[in-house]
Amino acid sequence: MNNILCIGAGYVGGPTMAMIAKKCPEYRVTVVDIDAERIHAWQSDRLPIYEPGLQELVKATLNKNLFFTLDIAKGIEEADIIFVSVNTPTKTFGQGAGRAADLQYWEKTARQIKTYAKSDKIVVEKSTLPVRTAEAMERILKSGNPTVHFEVLSNPEFLAEGTAVKDLENADRVLIGGHDTETGRKAVQALAAVYAHWVPHERILMTSVWSSELSKLAANAVLAQRISSINSLSALCESTEADITEVARAIGMDARIGSRFLNASVGFGGSCFKKDILNLVYLCQHYGLNEVAAYWEQVVTMNQYQEDRFVERMIAAMFNTVAGKRIAVFGIAFKADTGDTRESPAIRVCHALIEERAAVVITDPKALHNARKDMADCGDKVAYEEDPYRAAEGAHALAIMTDWAEYKTLDYRRLYASMSKPAFIFDGRNCLNHKELFEIGFNVYPIGKKPLSHL
Ligand code: UDX
Ligand code: UDX
Repeated sequence: MNNILCIGAGYVGGPTMAMIAKKCPEYRVTVVDIDAERIHAWQSDRLPIYEPGLQELVKATLNKNLFFTLDIAKGIEEADIIFVSVNTPTKTFGQGAGRAADLQYWEKTARQIKTYAKSDKIVVEKSTLPVRTAEAMERILKSGNPTVHFEVLSNPEFLAEGTAVKDLENADRVLIGGHDTETGRKAVQALAAVYAHWVPHERILMTSVWSSELSKLAANAVLAQRISSINSLSALCESTEADITEVARAIGMDARIGSRFLNASVGFGGSCFKKDILNLVYLCQHYGLNEVAAYWEQVVTMNQYQEDRFVERMIAAMFNTVAGKRIAVFGIAFKADTGDTRESPAIRVCHALIEERAAVVITDPKALHNARKDMADCGDKVAYEEDPYRAAEGAHALAIMTDWAEYKTLDYRRLYASMSKPAFIFDGRNCLNHKELFEIGFNVYPIGKKPLSHL
């Protein structure tokens, strides 16, 4: 039981397997992907994703008991446990377009496993999937070759980007869903034994496959719901001169509510929240639970409202026009400490500003390469600048879109001096010292707070 394979060397597969390799030296961990460039990057000093601590983690075991390869057939043949972490984006076509999960890569992977497997395998769903996907996977795997037994488990990953290594090392919980049969229980124990190398056993949670699949969607939906809740209140704060930070602190001190994930912002981004909620919505609709679907859909609607509201507020503050004005967008990553821009609210904000004919310049310490792809449709209407000071030169406004730590320690006097006046700051993350900025001369617009304006 010591050969582990992971199919999909992405944000989830790469870090998770690197952690398993480090914690389980007697296991041989192989990661395969269809993308040759990605596999090559994992073997180099320039990993395909940025994550604090990841380079060191990979280096510790690379080519000792952690291998990255393109050879999926050999990988499947040799493996005892196969994790599947290929991407499951929102469908863009046909039935369920814009809501349902696109499971084509998933199904293709299942067929590959079936084709190359010559001995019994434990197949682990690592990707986030609609409830009862394991059933479809089992049907594919069990069709045809009756000599090989496949046991499908659900083991969703809860790591957050930017803190992946920390989250993997010190997981709140590891969730393993399996069938209540003899082979099911045995497979669950085999997988639990991997995590038991470093996760305390009381944090290894065992459930049915369906509960496990649903728990991942539900966890992301509930987290996103907290953000939409606080963001909805931020709009009310702006109308009433209540302060969202004070409100969040007051409600978060109730132990039943808790203080985390109550930071009002320009909106949540990332590859998971929107995709998973839409998935949940689609599932509810499929089962005829229309009220439940509408309830969760509102979390996504509120998020878009928050992004749009941010731009509207910018335009209103800047004398109802941003046409021809240079606007420096600080941060395009969907959160700090990642180069990932998937579903980043900054992208929607940039597009809206360009629509208003603003001259947008984007700066970000880690995500400019992704930004160039995301904004390709805007051509030369958008510029990219590594150095935030250069991005701000001549700008009418700074829009803080990502809470990068370095943005807190910039020399705002220097930035102010180089900008057009009156100079504005729109802090979409409430991460700067607003009073200090106001004293420098900026007109400051936080989220869910009264603006500090000289005008
Ligand atoms: C993962 C999960 O798969 C997704 O369901 C979850 O909601 C978020 O985390 P992530 O690791 O972020 O996705 O995706 P990505 O970085 O896109 O990695 C997926 C990898 O799978 C890519 O490198 C892609 O090339 C690879 N892949 C895709 C295959 O190897 N084979 C395929 O058939 C399809
Ligand atoms: C999320 C889940 O946290 C993780 O458990 C799951 O496995 C994958 O999805 P991730 O998308 O990487 O992780 O980041 P997360 O830290 O959850 O942030 C998501 C978005 O919400 C970011 O855009 C972030 O800036 C925003 N956010 C978060 C807020 O706007 N306010 C908050 O209080 C917290």
